[in-house]
Amino acid sequence: MDTKLIYVGEAESADRELAAAAQIIKAGGLVAFPTETVYGLGANALDETAAGKIYEAKGRPSDNPLIAHIASFAELKPLVSVIPESGRKLAEAFWPGPLTLVFSKSELVPYGTTGGLDTVAVRLPGHPIARRLITLAGVPVAAPSANTSGRPSPTKAEHVRQDMNGRIDMIIDGGSVGIGMESTIVDVTGRVPVLLRPGAVTLEMLEQTVGEIELDPAVLGPVAKDQKPKAPGMKYRHYAPQAALTVVEGKAGLGLTDDVIATINRLAADRIRAGYRVGILCTDETKTCYPQGILRSAGRRSAPETIAHNLFAILREFDDLRVDYIYSESFSREQIGQAIMNRLTKAAGYHIIQI
Ligand code: TXA
Ligand code: MG
Repeated sequence: MDTKLIYVGEAESADRELAAAAQIIKAGGLVAFPTETVYGLGANALDETAAGKIYEAKGRPSDNPLIAHIASFAELKPLVSVIPESGRKLAEAFWPGPLTLVFSKSELVPYGTTGGLDTVAVRLPGHPIARRLITLAGVPVAAPSANTSGRPSPTKAEHVRQDMNGRIDMIIDGGSVGIGMESTIVDVTGRVPVLLRPGAVTLEMLEQTVGEIELDPAVLGPVAKDQKPKAPGMKYRHYAPQAALTVVEGKAGLGLTDDVIATINRLAADRIRAGYRVGILCTDETKTCYPQGILRSAGRRSAPETIAHNLFAILREFDDLRVDYIYSESFSREQIGQAIMNRLTKAAGYHIIQI
């Protein structure tokens, strides 16, 4: 298949291009597009055959459900059987934006989109290109992150091209995404809302809106073989670079310490001496502390959103550089840090060295 690549600067002046993309979705094809979180791989969410093509293109297990993206509040109602109070409050507070809500599904939504579940995940994104595309398509757009299953999510069109060229109909290049990490997912089907995946809408922000929030165990650590996380995607090794990634974490509460830097330097030196290529994931504040290895700064500790923005791109860059081992500093788990550490420790297969 020939994958068409189009550039769209501003949604407002690109209606002709976006109408062509929407036409592909209406006709059952696949279009990758930018959202404010990561690039998505879109298909008609109401068309089981189209949704099936997403699984094929990504190499994604078919029990892992897709998020249905909508362009206005009014488009939520037909997809769900009820809108609970907590869901309404959260949607009002954070939509359009990086929040996905899980509802009981209506009959309109096929099981091929929900991985056989009776629930459906819905998101109203804030990115103007995403919203215009969905509006022009006239259907809810099922869209997982536009990466090959298991690789870090794409934050640039180039990442999508690397994974999806020849496998999908079109890629809309709308530049680098804003947030760089996938949306927060909250299940609102029960009495107390449950956080299934942390993101830029933080636990603290959710609590301020609806009070009590439960945490799915998959948010905090590895999922045991007999455990079933509520977001099926959380059980797969994910976001993972090809190198063996180790996170070095300072004493509880202390985050970064001199011991962390010394340990990373020791581990890196051992591997380099043995002839391996070593990547070190550090920060602007610490990048002068490592004499050896291929250094990449994820951003500023003083502005953790910069780290969220760059993390996946750096993991992909380490793949391109063919490093064998990556040693990473760890980050505070507060606020957006919860999402950063969730992705980073998952990428490491939970290989964490506590100092
Ligand atoms: O930011 C995002 O959410 C991006 C952009 C494109 O919107 N999308 C995204 O989709 O990250 P994906 O498929 O890579 O991740 C969706 C996650 C998976 O872990 C999946 O298991 C979970 O959402 N999920 C989807 N439907 C669900 C449902 N009905 N119940 C529980 N979890 C669900
Ligand atoms: Mg994904």
